Amino acid sequence: MASKDGQNDTEVSALNEEIQSFFKSAPPLRNKTEITTKLKDFVLQHSSNLGNGRATRVVCVTSGGTTVPLEQRCVRYIDNFSSGHRGAASTEYFLKAGYAVIFLCRRGTCQPYCRSLPDDPFLECFEFTDDSQIRVLEPHSEAVKKAISDHRIAVEKGQLLKLPFTTIFEYLQMLLLIAASVGRLGQHMMFYLAAAVSDFYVPWNSMAEHKIQSGSGPLDMRLVQVPKMLAVLRKEWAPLAFCVSFKLETDTMILLEKASAALHKYGMHAVVANELLTRKEEVVVVMSNENVPVHRDKTDASSDVEDPLIKLLVDKHRAHIADSA
Ligand code: PMT
Repeated sequence: MASKDGQNDTEVSALNEEIQSFFKSAPPLRNKTEITTKLKDFVLQHSSNLGNGRATRVVCVTSGGTTVPLEQRCVRYIDNFSSGHRGAASTEYFLKAGYAVIFLCRRGTCQPYCRSLPDDPFLECFEFTDDSQIRVLEPHSEAVKKAISDHRIAVEKGQLLKLPFTTIFEYLQMLLLIAASVGRLGQHMMFYLAAAVSDFYVPWNSMAEHKIQSGSGPLDMRLVQVPKMLAVLRKEWAPLAFCVSFKLETDTMILLEKASAALHKYGMHAVVANELLTRKEEVVVVMSNENVPVHRDKTDASSDVEDPLIKLLVDKHRAHIADSA
């Protein structure tokens, strides 16, 4: 039987089975209790104004690529491309717009407020003075001061919660924990899914325990499809939240068509379509009633496409909250 969101009952039950088997086979999160406590405190802080018209809006920004380990004692893994720039820049603009941000990010990728610093800030921005104090080198002093102060304000005010992941197992378990914790925020919650999530994985119970030995010819390995959690997130985990996913392609001819298909298939409120080479210049926000192209301000070298993008999404989220009320 067909359901209105484009997936029939057989597809839905097959997906639920895939999801259950994914979570069953996943190695348990090591710091689950700590993450749950942090999320509980964060949501409590930001839900105190619910109902009086001044509620803080909260967004979960996912950022960076997930890895797929090939061995349980992992030496080798498959990685997904993403520098984390999109997620880090977007987090800064969401904070600027007054949102509290749960930043679910790949360890070691670009972090909010660090984008304007050199690649190796610790080595390039500081030097020892004659009396063995550390000082910031002049060309970087403004950028370092601003990065430290903006970051500290966001963290000290409780506006920014960073949760790092590495593997696809950690990422999806943490996304589920977040969705389970933010229920009371209802429509004030947004998911902004910019992470590059693996499409195939090796189930934990069929994975080699030790380092796979080379020298015996080609390696045969069966990868299983990672179940797309987007529809389940939207319909079951956080049905009131505003959900934005991304579509990355390298062929512009199929980009909008694929984004539009994802919008309908997963019931997203918006899909941000981006092409690999131009992703920092322009994106198209695909929604059910319109497609909105968004460009970086080319007259300003320091402008980001995330600036107008987040403004647009904040407006759409506001309308979503008003509609739900
Ligand atoms: O980090 P940068 O270098 O700045 O680059 C930013 C970006 C190009 C990575 C980002 O803008 C982007 O497009 N992210 C999504 C890339 C992606 O994985 O696209 P996809 O077509 O494979 O997946 C589409 C959506 O489904 C994504 O929102 C993804 O989070 C989600 N997904 C994908 C696979 C899966 N098994 N489950 C999912 O939920």
